[in-house]
Amino acid sequence: MAEAIIRVAGLGKSYLTAAGPFPALRGVDLVIEAGEFVAIMGPSGSGKSTFMNLLGCLDTPSSGDYFLVGRNAAQLGKDELAALRNRTIGFVFQGFNLLPRMTLEDNVALPLVYAGFEREARRARARLELGRVGLGDYAASLPSRISGGQQQRVAIARALVNSPQLILADEPTGNLDSHTSEEIMALFAELNREGITIVLVTHEADIAAYARRQVRFRDGLIVSDLPTPAPAPPPHAEGDARRGLARDGRQPHAHHPDHARDGHRRRLGGADDGHRPGRAVCGGANHQQHGQQSVHPDLRVDEHRRPAQRGVAGARR
Ligand SMILES: Nc1ncnc2c1ncn2[C@@H]1O[C@H](COP(=O)(O)OP(=O)(O)OP(=O)(O)O)[C@@H](O)[C@H]1O
Ligand SMILES: [Mg+2]
Repeated sequence: MAEAIIRVAGLGKSYLTAAGPFPALRGVDLVIEAGEFVAIMGPSGSGKSTFMNLLGCLDTPSSGDYFLVGRNAAQLGKDELAALRNRTIGFVFQGFNLLPRMTLEDNVALPLVYAGFEREARRARARLELGRVGLGDYAASLPSRISGGQQQRVAIARALVNSPQLILADEPTGNLDSHTSEEIMALFAELNREGITIVLVTHEADIAAYARRQVRFRDGLIVSDLPTPAPAPPPHAEGDARRGLARDGRQPHAHHPDHARDGHRRRLGGADDGHRPGRAVCGGANHQQHGQQSVHPDLRVDEHRRPAQRGVAGARR
């Protein structure tokens, strides 16, 4: 049987605080197989981000074991771990974390700079990934010239540029309105159908419904781990199903067994949220994100490696 992409056993994390050690995670066991789409849920402070940081090898556990594609993270050297992380994981954050003075193309290409790609190869890969998320025409734009939803698409393109097997997304729709959130989730669902494993933190039941499995944290422990329930059959299920609509008239979620055949018919990233480059607009709650400068974790590595083989996700385009 293929190696699980993620296996954690007895994972614990204590933070040192003025009041003494604080146990944010208290012995978590979890296995995630390649190809899964998992939502991580739970109240604020329950340890979701702490857990994601450990999965992303951005922090080290205080106790327990973490096996990433079968490799024990604790037994890898710093460079080896960074190399494994960078070829295995793409990160997407709530705040997009784009560099404001760089074009979208350069933002997407940035992880490739540190992976030792030549300029032309970087540009070609970045444009490919921007096209994949429906922003192929926006390569020369600056992040401030596009909407929040589009910025998150760019961040997803950046996460994809190293052809990862796994995407870790911590509240990726937390700053987006509900319509834009649905588009971003449709994009994640499409990437999952292409074979990329997705682990995504959310507070929203609607967002978690895109996943096929829902893991719930409370007080640093997993308290439930269940398949996403199928939606209740609507009173006029037959007629609606024939028209390809969910009960509320939206496109059905592709991951539900009942919906799987039709899925989201939108082209990957094809839906437009109505904002255009050149209009310095930014949807709803996204204004505060402009100008934010964070270092993408992929950029912390100066590993030199050859372009990775395109996986399932990258082979098509
Ligand atoms: N660097 C840190 N130092 C001390 N305590 C921390 C640190 N990071 C997180 N914590 C604490 O650990 C607990 C878990 O935090 P975490 O950020 O993982 O929660 P979360 O489930 O992601 O919450 P939210 O939904 O608000 O994002 C919280 O009580 C938090 O205050
Ligand atoms: Mg969090």
